[in-house]
Amino acid sequence: MNSSITPKLNILKTETSRVKEVDFDNLVFGSTFTDHMFECDFINGEWQNPTIRPYGNLSISPGAKVFHYGQAVFEGMKAYKDEDGKVWLFRPQQNFERINKSAKRLAIPEFPRDIFFEALTTLVRMDKEWIQPGLGNSLYIRPFVMATQVGVSASPSTEYKFMILAAPAQAYYTGDVRVVIADHYSRAANGGVGAAKAAGNYGAQFYPTNLAREKGFHQVIWTDDSEHKYLEEAGTMNVFFRVNDTLITAPVSDRILDGVTRKSVIDIAKHNNIDVEVRPVLVSEIVEAAKDGSLKEIFGAGTAAVISPVSAIGHKEHVYELTKPEDSYSARFKKDLMSIQHNITEDPFGWRFEVK
Ligand code: COI
Repeated sequence: MNSSITPKLNILKTETSRVKEVDFDNLVFGSTFTDHMFECDFINGEWQNPTIRPYGNLSISPGAKVFHYGQAVFEGMKAYKDEDGKVWLFRPQQNFERINKSAKRLAIPEFPRDIFFEALTTLVRMDKEWIQPGLGNSLYIRPFVMATQVGVSASPSTEYKFMILAAPAQAYYTGDVRVVIADHYSRAANGGVGAAKAAGNYGAQFYPTNLAREKGFHQVIWTDDSEHKYLEEAGTMNVFFRVNDTLITAPVSDRILDGVTRKSVIDIAKHNNIDVEVRPVLVSEIVEAAKDGSLKEIFGAGTAAVISPVSAIGHKEHVYELTKPEDSYSARFKKDLMSIQHNITEDPFGWRFEVK
């Protein structure tokens, strides 16, 4: 259903920018949006009327299918400004491919590549004043698509709205994260939508995460749904374990998101001659490693959070505290990754994409 027609991008500019009103040192993640946004509708079997216009509310019927069946998928990506004022995206092709993979799983028509890249780069260029230079600052970009056909019959929508929003961002998690290993609730199942960035995947985590919070944890490390025997994802991130000097992470599957930060960390580790094992990770082996001291680090990896060190893991009635080693992998990967993203170092992988 990938439309081959590339209609012209309409651009409606705001008369007054809000950028001067923003306190960039005190941003709440993802709640202040830039001056403009992109929208494009799928009607009569075609994506049409791609438009960048001033950020503002939508008018959508309460009968739209997204409200009843959650037919919606999204992406998270970032733009960075270097010290010379040049603007860079990080591996945008990966996000483009993944939103269409997610869309396909939710029976949503794929979005054309040329409109995606034209809209993305034009929006970032128009709102580049909103990107602060400096490590830790970025523009968080949120492409998403939702079902807009009116009707509560449980069938795929025939109409959709694809949008891109952008929000200046700093750190997603401040400080180390305490996580608890799931032993009852599940995030995903075989054959389900765990590998898709489906809106409902995140909403379904809120209740078990609230329960974890009541017990002093910030996030849940999700395990396999059938036996809760394997460690799979951490909250909004993929998860890595360092046992002695080996880095271990679960392979992507039906249940695990193919994270862009995850695959970048694996490549950086290999580039630094670190032993990497991509294989199923048993809860029991990590608990044993925590007990015998060979578990050196756990960290999450994701676009919003970048690299987020875990300071404690809870399992059943036990809590294992972790002390960050001096030669911390998580600190090293975060520095290497951010240096590439911010155009501070060479990019041996060809991941940076300049928005000219
Ligand atoms: C991201 O890391 O970009 C995500 O999509 C997580 C999101 C829930 C903030």
